[in-house]
Amino acid sequence: MSSLKASAIAHSNIAFIKYWGRDKNHPKELNIPLNDNVSMTKEGIGRIKLQTHTTIEFSDVFSKDTAILEGREITGRGMERILSVVDSLRNLAGIKYFFRLESRNDFPTSAGLASSAAGFAALALATSNALKPDLTLDEISTYARLGSGSASRSLHGGFVYWHKGDSHETSVAEQICSKGCLDIRAVIAVISTEEKKIKSDQGHEYADTSIYNQPRIDESIKDAKIIKDAIIRNDFSAAGKIIEKSCNLMHAVMMTSESPLFYWEPGTIKVIKAVHEARDNGFECYYTIDAGPNVHVLSKPRDMEKVKEMLENIPEVQKTICVKPSKDSHVVDEHLF
Ligand code: PMV
Repeated sequence: MSSLKASAIAHSNIAFIKYWGRDKNHPKELNIPLNDNVSMTKEGIGRIKLQTHTTIEFSDVFSKDTAILEGREITGRGMERILSVVDSLRNLAGIKYFFRLESRNDFPTSAGLASSAAGFAALALATSNALKPDLTLDEISTYARLGSGSASRSLHGGFVYWHKGDSHETSVAEQICSKGCLDIRAVIAVISTEEKKIKSDQGHEYADTSIYNQPRIDESIKDAKIIKDAIIRNDFSAAGKIIEKSCNLMHAVMMTSESPLFYWEPGTIKVIKAVHEARDNGFECYYTIDAGPNVHVLSKPRDMEKVKEMLENIPEVQKTICVKPSKDSHVVDEHLF
């Protein structure tokens, strides 16, 4: 018997400058974004780290590809996305063995936090380690991107810049700086744990039907560069303003596309209003929201507890989760099978 096996851990990320919509000049499967974008890879503070642990083994004894997430076999579109990552790396390495994959999150999948970014980043890292261990994290980011665009940003910890690029090889996510460079925390206000009807995988296809799509792209191109400098300078205020603007621009596009996508719930608006009110009262915090109703409220580290308290006073907030910038995704010795 001959086999190749590796395990990896990766974290999810929250977008500061959003990726919304694929560039239709390229094959859809490549997930080439419309604009450069920026994020923070995030780690839970406390017992739950909000991480995905994945083990993959390639062996000549397997007679088919199998993927298990939280004890359940993945089929359909989920398996298609896994294969887009694994097949590219299998081809690159010239290896023909079938695989067995197991993946676990250290948080409940029904928590409204389920993250394809952490999953595909851990998958790409474990697979490359098993088949082609000489790849850099930047190179591996291009393979994670094939599973889900935002996963490309989760290979690196800290603050990450995903270059739009104009090919598979050049659409790369690179680290701006590691976890310590911008003093920032986020409190996630969980408004709903229900699965959304239109996942981002599908939502990206609607972006160019909105009249606000091009203005959002133009702003994002400028803002990605501005926020990169703000992060390096540790300028929380400059970063926060741009983060909020990018969130609002993306949701404006979502709400005005055919068909319109409204991810916000009444609780989402309550959190937005609470953040505005806090700022009016001289307490600095900013919000951002991805393709769902839950809100990340960003603050300086010393203000995190106060933000948590503020959010927990809103009845629609089911619970809060505190996060900080995380370290890089990494290979681990502990295998899941
Ligand atoms: O990577 P995807 O296809 O799940 O898209 C992510 C889209 C947003 O989370 C809404 C924005 C982003 O940049 O992460």
